Amino acid sequence: MDLKSFIRDIDDFPQQGVTFKDIIPLLLDANAMRKTSKMLFDMIGETKIDKVIGMESRGFFFAPLLADKLNAGFVPVRKPGKLPFEKISHAYGLEYGTDILEMHTDSILRGEKVLIHDDVLATGGTAAAVCKLVEQLGGEIVQCNFLIELEFLKGREKLSDYNVRSLLKY
Ligand code: PRP
Ligand code: MG
Repeated sequence: MDLKSFIRDIDDFPQQGVTFKDIIPLLLDANAMRKTSKMLFDMIGETKIDKVIGMESRGFFFAPLLADKLNAGFVPVRKPGKLPFEKISHAYGLEYGTDILEMHTDSILRGEKVLIHDDVLATGGTAAAVCKLVEQLGGEIVQCNFLIELEFLKGREKLSDYNVRSLLKY
């Protein structure tokens, strides 16, 4: 099964000149979904993982499935103003302006082994911000795990301190 055949290109979304990788057709197909989570899991290796982090919104599709397979907890990283408890924040640069991601302070215990998952690695700004949050709480990042890597945006360079794995490269 060719998983790339379940990913659809949408031209000029969300803005002119950008081609968006729409993974929803892959989510709609039971076999493609199951194969994707298995292949993401197979990239992880043998290290015991305590927590799997997913970033709102599209990191939430597969991160809890991986947490289940790994017998690990799931940590939601959220956009600002969504988390109810005590939290830490990290601002990161976008092409225009900045954005903020937040995590509860009790999400990760010092020394816990952490897997970070998101659907897409583009410029790497999102994942680099999450790495900062994890390290602030004393977590040890075992892998940054992505479904899609847009290699031409060189996000991997922002994550050069980490073990980065992606399933589908463009
Ligand atoms: C997209 C994507 C990744 C991020 C990758 O999320 O889901 O999280 O961008 O880009 P980067 O590597 O350049 O940081 P987006 O912020 O569009 O929000 P969403 O997941 O809520 O759709
Ligand atoms: Mg996202």
